[in-house]
Amino acid sequence: MNEPSAAPIESIELLGPALLDSERQSADAVLRFARSLRMSFGWHYLLDLVWTNRELPAPPRSTVLDAGAGVGIMQWLLAERGVNVISVDRIDRSRLSLRFRARYNVVGLRKGDLLRKRRALDLEAHNGALKMDAVRDARNLVGRKLGLGHSRGSVTIHRSTLDHLAAIPDASVDGIVSISSLEHNDLDNIPLVMQELWRVLRPGATLTATVGAGKTDWYHEPSRGWCFSEATLKQAFGLSPSTPSNYDQYDEILEAVRTNEELRKGLAQSYFRSGNNGMPWGKWDPQYLSVGIRRQKPG
Ligand SMILES: C[S@@+](CC[C@H](N)C(=O)[O-])C[C@H]1O[C@@H](n2cnc3c(N)ncnc32)[C@H](O)[C@@H]1O
Repeated sequence: MNEPSAAPIESIELLGPALLDSERQSADAVLRFARSLRMSFGWHYLLDLVWTNRELPAPPRSTVLDAGAGVGIMQWLLAERGVNVISVDRIDRSRLSLRFRARYNVVGLRKGDLLRKRRALDLEAHNGALKMDAVRDARNLVGRKLGLGHSRGSVTIHRSTLDHLAAIPDASVDGIVSISSLEHNDLDNIPLVMQELWRVLRPGATLTATVGAGKTDWYHEPSRGWCFSEATLKQAFGLSPSTPSNYDQYDEILEAVRTNEELRKGLAQSYFRSGNNGMPWGKWDPQYLSVGIRRQKPG
């Protein structure tokens, strides 16, 4: 991760393809990393991940909370760089695949957050998911034990709602990241989530979040997520009315996204298999933008 940019303490940025040009190396590294984990992601995630890489200070050995991490790539990207991640989501990840558990030191915050490895191994073998990958992962594990790889960070799985992080102490994390998660909450709940995230963030540290953006507020049914207008975004996320933003360029950035070949060609295969996902049958038709929010807690 980069050093903090000279950007203001609070900022809002609609994410368009220009970001991929200015952060080419970072974009290529994210794509290479995703291939190494055999992961693909939704149409705007490359933008979200590259923007987050640029904006979130996350040095090795720091602790970063991934809010609404799901099984997303950000937590592994951070761990790969030596960051210790607290991975919070309300979904059950107790059966998290050994694909990740062999490569990273994954633990449960509390009993029940993660199945013991032995049991997970049995389950994956039972489901037929454990094939040649297991051999490669075992090799990785041995390499790590022998100290052949560089020092990766840990990932601590925590099943919880984001508005009640009772097991996480005040001012205990060095950064918070959230990728395309907070828009999947009732509007009334977002200030409560932000209040709780703010509580656990240490003074002087940064929160970055990407969410859906619209010129007016609307609910994107296929992804079950809100697209926020600039005014709602500022209000719900506790940003001051004077926070710098590029919402005035909404139309041209959306047009740039719609006509961008790299994003279109990167559309994950899952979009081609289901008609109910925002890009029915893989037909490239972005309806909204992604926006990055950066807030630094006063020191
Ligand atoms: C679209 S997924 C994105 C997952 C991941 N960040 C990624 O990059 O793939 C949104 C995730 O946010 C989680 N989420 C949203 N609001 C939450 C809340 N209030 N508490 C816990 N998890 C939440 C959902 O359960 C879901 O797993």
